[in-house]
Amino acid sequence: MRAGALLFSAALGFAVLAGCARKSALVKFDPLQNAYDTEPDWNDAQRIIPLNYEEAQGKQIFYEQCVWCHADQTPAGPSNRSNVTPAPPLWNDGATLNSLSDAFLEKFTAQGGTAMGKSAMMPAYGQTLTPEEIRAVVAYARAIAVPALRATSRPGQK
Ligand code: HEC
Repeated sequence: MRAGALLFSAALGFAVLAGCARKSALVKFDPLQNAYDTEPDWNDAQRIIPLNYEEAQGKQIFYEQCVWCHADQTPAGPSNRSNVTPAPPLWNDGATLNSLSDAFLEKFTAQGGTAMGKSAMMPAYGQTLTPEEIRAVVAYARAIAVPALRATSRPGQK
């Protein structure tokens, strides 16, 4: 009888502990990890590209700072890209950007065209954007690249 009760309470304790373990895992979960946005493929509006949190941050920065020169037609309106010489690469231009490293794109963004021996038409953002923001805008380029840099881009995937 005693042994049975012990066994029962042990089993109960285990069940409670297991329940707690699951709960604490849930509490530790960062809700931002689950926040995501999307962007339609610029060449094919039917294809919706999921963006993870960092890429979505980058998208916001892109539409604030870069869109006028690095996109043609956007929901924000017509761009100025056709008036810029040399033509800035489209931010989804995988054929141009995929072969360039994150480090290079981040440095180019921070230091601007002049410091990189290129056109002064490309401003320097090192004083305007933090390194994290510059990393995010590059992550966004990677996510929307055509041809794709990687097969898929889903929330939480690097
Ligand atoms: C006023 C127009 C303008 C704006 C705004 C602008 N760019 Fe540029 N960008 C250029 C031009 C022009 C070039 C091409 C420079 C060259 O090739 O000499 C360029 C080139 C670049 C390159 C180098 C790409 C390569 O193929 O080597 C990167 C990276 C870049 N821009 C990132 C950005 C980011 C990120 C933003 C926003 C934070 C931004 N640019 C905003 C005009 C602009």
